[in-house]
Amino acid sequence: MAKNKEESSIAKLNILFVAAEVVPFAKTGGLADVAGALPKAIKELGHNIIVVMPRYYKIDTSKLTKLEAPLSVPMGVMGEFLAGVYTATLPNSDVPIYFIDHEGYFGRHGLYEDHGGGYGDNDNRFIFFSKAALQLCKLLNFTPDIIHTNDWHTAAIPLLCKTRFKHDFAYAANVLTIHNLQHQGNFYRGLVDVMEVGWEHFNAHELESFHRVNLLKGGIYHADAVTTVSKKYAQEIQTSDFGFGLDAHIRGHSHKLFGILNGVDYDEWNPSIDNFIAKKYDFDDMSGKLACKRDIQKHFNLELRYDVALIGFVGRFAEQKGIGLIAGIIHGLLDLDVQIIMLGTGEQWAEGFFSHVAHHRANFGLHIGYSDELAHKIEAGSDMFLMPSLFEPCGLNQIYSLRYGTLPIVRGTGGLDDTIVNFDEHHKHGNGFKFYEASQEALYYTVLWALKIYNDDKIAFEDMQKTAMQQHFDWDDSAKGYEEVYQYALDKKRN
Ligand code: ADP
Ligand code: GLC
Repeated sequence: MAKNKEESSIAKLNILFVAAEVVPFAKTGGLADVAGALPKAIKELGHNIIVVMPRYYKIDTSKLTKLEAPLSVPMGVMGEFLAGVYTATLPNSDVPIYFIDHEGYFGRHGLYEDHGGGYGDNDNRFIFFSKAALQLCKLLNFTPDIIHTNDWHTAAIPLLCKTRFKHDFAYAANVLTIHNLQHQGNFYRGLVDVMEVGWEHFNAHELESFHRVNLLKGGIYHADAVTTVSKKYAQEIQTSDFGFGLDAHIRGHSHKLFGILNGVDYDEWNPSIDNFIAKKYDFDDMSGKLACKRDIQKHFNLELRYDVALIGFVGRFAEQKGIGLIAGIIHGLLDLDVQIIMLGTGEQWAEGFFSHVAHHRANFGLHIGYSDELAHKIEAGSDMFLMPSLFEPCGLNQIYSLRYGTLPIVRGTGGLDDTIVNFDEHHKHGNGFKFYEASQEALYYTVLWALKIYNDDKIAFEDMQKTAMQQHFDWDDSAKGYEEVYQYALDKKRN
């Protein structure tokens, strides 16, 4: 894999990039950030890439162009379904994006669920979407060299290319990126008939898992290359602690597994040009960060003080994000001279629990919901960012935090471990505060330590902020990593 930059130019490729969510059109998490940014960086390398996603109800079609001909999508025992197609380009680029439109499957408020429960037909919805993406290539006369799929939603494609769609796609090399192994697309086995891939593929090496279909498992088997979004996570998912039951399967395919760290879109996450925040700033003049701190304190009705440490959290209220650990120590932390603010939505118990805390504690601010603007304001106004995830394939918020000089307090797992260098008190070096053990004690004492540095060693703290702000996690670097994986997958396919 190691190549130097001069050698990295490979023949211009046609790439089909398929994802269930893409910024700025629809987003529930980091997958959308990646799908909105990586294709642009790949295009910059000179490749011909198109992106395909579903047209969810909330995507306004008035600014999109509708294609004349509808697609016909075979759904096995259910017959042929028609799909409409809209198109546009990814913002600030000429990368085409296509939206698969079907009222029955995607004319709903949520992407995957409403009110906490997943849609009962998510299996059919995403097989339909996967097949529609392939049919679209035929309609456009687009012949992909590489098909880049993401997570379970599109993980059926590598097998579809070898079976139902083999006449048109048998030559294409498939690359599957795992953004989160927790979600595997486990469904009733009758789905095999909707996929039309043949029951011979319903076996323990390919699609079958506990008598059900496991789409991600089949994708890992059939893809020519598999990637995860950090190197550490690529290692972790081969262990039973992080494998969600697929670790042995992944170990069996580790020869084609690569870890490539996500990048950051610095046009969006950058305090020197961020229009959401109260005052822009950069590492050479951080005074604007104080204005942002005051702004967010006002927003959350906190005491207006510059001298108190302000810790922020933005993320899904899911076990993955370590919210159980935070809940366990929040009262202990709030007894200290500190302010804590949280933005998120998700598990009901957490929403209820933190609402209760907000009601009773003056130094705690909470916003339950999803707000891009507030996420930016929290990044800018906080002194530290809390991300004690139990597992974290990459994690984007800690990388955004670095750019805003908001020092991350993280658990050393996955991409958090790969991006955060623990503060070394002796050499006064690092870009955040890190612990490893998934316990409330470890989190509590790490926050205490970070507060001590904030309060008693201002110079070291500010130096760390400046160092953090000058680090770069560019998509260009990640795109070059994917380019090498594409080449690997093509070589494998052709030899
Ligand atoms: P994950 O994809 O596991 O949720 P990431 O750190 O990769 O975690 O990405 C999460 C993305 O979603 C970030 O861009 C983050 O700012 C955003 N995000 C998460 N929750 C919210 C929220 N409640 N409001 C606004 N943005 C959010
Ligand atoms: C997933 C992971 C997160 C990662 C994101 C984008 O949602 O949970 O860690 O940053 O995908 O790859």
